[in-house]
Amino acid sequence: MKITIGSDHGAVELKEEVKKVLAEFEGVEVKDVGTFGTASVDYPDIAEKVCADVVSGAADRGIVLCGTGLGISIAANKIHGIRCALCNDVYSARMSREHNNANVLAMGGRVTGFGPAGEIVRTWMTTDFAGGRHARRVDKIMALENK
Ligand code: RB5
Repeated sequence: MKITIGSDHGAVELKEEVKKVLAEFEGVEVKDVGTFGTASVDYPDIAEKVCADVVSGAADRGIVLCGTGLGISIAANKIHGIRCALCNDVYSARMSREHNNANVLAMGGRVTGFGPAGEIVRTWMTTDFAGGRHARRVDKIMALENK
């Protein structure tokens, strides 16, 4: 599986931690689109880079991080084809895959500690979409893009 990851300056340390967790998975390739330092950057630019890979198929899924996870998840969800879930807990991470087929995970570097974030990522990486009635609902979400 190919994962593209990016963060603004509010989550650079969390991004490094998430990359360590992703390294636990065999066959997972990670592309990091930055940012790489403490200089302030605009989270919509990072969301756009990560989501471009998901939409084009260059990545199977994306992970976006900012201080709260809020701004970057809002930005990601403006991009057609993206279902970005901001997850602060493991239950939401599991449901975002099972019920919403989320293709992008968002978290906040100033909100979620490394331990919980690691469990969120492990859960999100290993949970499949349940399909069935949830497929109908996800299809309706995607149809909203054309209204
Ligand atoms: C940047 O200071 C901060 O606004 C950003 O990381 C994020 O929390 C926005 O939602």
